[in-house]
Amino acid sequence: MSSGEDSGRPSGFGRGLTNYGDRDFALYLRRSFARSMGYSDGMLARPIVGICHTPSGFNNCHRHFPELLDAVKRGVLAAGGLPLEFPVISLGEVFLSPTSLKFRNLMSMDVEEMIRAQPMDSVVLLGGCDKTVPAQLMGAVSADVPAVQLVAGPMMTGRYKGERLGACTDCRRFWARFRGGEIDAAEIAAVEGNLATTAGTCAVMGTASTMACVAEALGLALPDSAAIPAVHADRLRCAEESGRRAVALIGSELTPRRIVTAKSVENALRVILALSGSTNAILHLAAIAGRAGLELSLERLNELSETTPVLVDLKPVGDNYMEDFHAAGGLDAVLRELKPLLHLDCMTVTGETLGERLDRKPAVAADRRVVHAVSDPISAKGGLVALFGSLAPGGAIVKRAAADPRLLEHEGRAVVFDSLEDLARRIDDPDLDVEADDVLVLQNAGPKSASGMPEAGYLPIPKKLARKGVKDMVRVSDARMSGTAFGTIVLHVTPEATVGGPLSIVRTGDRIRLSVAGRRIDLLVDDAEIAARLAAAGRPAAASPSGRGYDRLYRTHVLQADRGCDFDFLRGDPA
Ligand code: FES
Repeated sequence: MSSGEDSGRPSGFGRGLTNYGDRDFALYLRRSFARSMGYSDGMLARPIVGICHTPSGFNNCHRHFPELLDAVKRGVLAAGGLPLEFPVISLGEVFLSPTSLKFRNLMSMDVEEMIRAQPMDSVVLLGGCDKTVPAQLMGAVSADVPAVQLVAGPMMTGRYKGERLGACTDCRRFWARFRGGEIDAAEIAAVEGNLATTAGTCAVMGTASTMACVAEALGLALPDSAAIPAVHADRLRCAEESGRRAVALIGSELTPRRIVTAKSVENALRVILALSGSTNAILHLAAIAGRAGLELSLERLNELSETTPVLVDLKPVGDNYMEDFHAAGGLDAVLRELKPLLHLDCMTVTGETLGERLDRKPAVAADRRVVHAVSDPISAKGGLVALFGSLAPGGAIVKRAAADPRLLEHEGRAVVFDSLEDLARRIDDPDLDVEADDVLVLQNAGPKSASGMPEAGYLPIPKKLARKGVKDMVRVSDARMSGTAFGTIVLHVTPEATVGGPLSIVRTGDRIRLSVAGRRIDLLVDDAEIAARLAAAGRPAAASPSGRGYDRLYRTHVLQADRGCDFDFLRGDPA
């Protein structure tokens, strides 16, 4: 076995030796134990591609990963590398309490440390469900070993009474109909069995699909890879090619920090806007950029939103599903339309620039029913904007493309819930004093709250209003919203209530004004009264977190939404 230190620069099993105070002994011992895995000398002499593998019995979206892993290994072996998979935490979105976001940073630390601590020359990141891809990208940027992101790919749609169903926009649509009394318990049970019917990530442009597109737009995933369905043979071919590519990257300077730059982050922001992508993607992109020492400015988001058209007709804001997006040309078709707006000199894992990639002929002609031309956009401006104002001095996010246009300029009376428990207790109370033009406010659901910023910003329409046919209301919180949800929903209010932001002193009966055109969300209470209420509230409890273990680490170090809810000690040095 010749891997080790032959070239002067350690590679393969010679990288990062265990410290016994004797390097030769450490290499001898490692080789001896590596031999026990039964590889031939030739295999053990090869450079090593780590495969960051995230299967889990608690992650339905990743259930096809054993097959995908085989394909990655095939590619690595064919290109002359030795593929060695290693497990890291897997985050199955709906199986985690209080919310998966709380564990994204934990997973990112696992990814970073295991890439750094184990002897690998490059790595394939095999992820998919909402938080796994952000965690892997954050960890990979911090570890800065050449990396290729391979995503799970989306689920196929199911069928119910001749209608196509896809998680999870249709989950919410049918649940709203059930709450409104339009369908009964037997029908909602039948729908439940047809919403998520294959392996893969949610079938719409939710957070997982948006982050798959972000990975490709950043240049960290292969071209044309984001939208390939999980069960499509192309997904396996993409896995094989990702393995090959990871071998080709060994020894190159094309590390994640070279690829994640201010320019590629802007390209990714453009893509999120053109997709009307998930609001969560803004938060994750801020965290990924932060690992490279870059700031994601919400003011810049607004500037880009003014000049980025919405091009993609996908649920939750349009009509189609991810499988349609793939057949219609996928992200490649979107990038070609956005080309004049993109930074084309950004490098990608293929070794070519984005511009060189887009100079090649497309694999398929775009289907304009799904991916519109820039000359015929779905809307001339981006799907998301940031809001500022007395209620959110540090910013908030609204997905205007998913809102009822009549509510984009709205003033109403606040109806306040001071916690998730309060919301659950009172939202369906027949005696709740609430009207359709009120503004529902949820406090204490931000990053430092006990709930860890869950996807609770999509407050349900009170049952008594839902039964009268009310479908949308202005809702304001420091929580997040699922990328598959829709409505006039103001999220990520910063600073959050738990650290004493102005959201914490809103009272039922106060008036709130939302102006998406003005990019403002304001509490219509005079400044002196706001100051008096904040003073009376005193020092927020979150200023001195108690508890133990990861919960304590999280609450002590998590940053606000505008910094991506990363930990303060994980952000990178400024680029
Ligand atoms: Fe995994 Fe939606 S639950 S992507």
